[in-house]
Amino acid sequence: MEAGYWHHKWQTGDVKFHQADFNPLMVKYFPILSLSVANCVFVPLCGRTRDIAWLLEQGYRVVGAELNETAVQGLFDDLGLTPTVTQDGALIRYATVALVVFVGDIFELGAAAVGPVHAVFDRAALVALPEEMRQRYAAHVIEITRSAPQFVLTYTYDQATMAGPPFSITSDMVTGYYARDFTVQHLDTVAVGALKGKVPATETAWVMIGQSA
Ligand SMILES: C[S@@+](CC[C@H](N)C(=O)[O-])C[C@H]1O[C@@H](n2cnc3c(N)ncnc32)[C@H](O)[C@@H]1O
Repeated sequence: MEAGYWHHKWQTGDVKFHQADFNPLMVKYFPILSLSVANCVFVPLCGRTRDIAWLLEQGYRVVGAELNETAVQGLFDDLGLTPTVTQDGALIRYATVALVVFVGDIFELGAAAVGPVHAVFDRAALVALPEEMRQRYAAHVIEITRSAPQFVLTYTYDQATMAGPPFSITSDMVTGYYARDFTVQHLDTVAVGALKGKVPATETAWVMIGQSA
């Protein structure tokens, strides 16, 4: 997807992917990663997600990356936080003590800017990208988080019945993106009703742990 596609979605409020509640699979399974208070969670393609509020409530620090600045301003507004805003190379950095979000293309974001990361939380990020971008995206997130463990949520449905995003991701695709760097563990698969009111789908939670961990 081009940047313009996402900016248009945010400008027109066509953001059905934005959920009012915390993701139930995250609440149930993210603790498997056994993080400590003040550990850092990287949230790629974070939008305005409420899931960041849950991560902050657990006592984690969060670093996010998001293309659309209005979404990021909304995220900080929702949290009642007033960030310090600075230019950081090609990106804009919105920062408070516990939450930093880089505004711009995630592919412009490097490991030094992100800093030490203890886990990645990926909801509606991998699935938001077309096939030709996903391999590059997965490799980039692994690189800028220095192979930190990942908690990844995917959707699966009959791709022939609907064009993404969100795209349908099979377990073979997940293995293809992550198994070179991680042990891939399937946690749970649940029905999520009809995606966009059209197609029955399931949501799957995965955890990717480094092979040396
Ligand atoms: C489907 S939404 C999911 C947002 C969020 N993860 C959630 O669960 O609500 C995907 C988000 O990725 C952002 N995005 C798309 N391409 C991006 C890129 N190259 N760099 C940073 N953000 C991007 C879009 O602006 C959009 O907010």
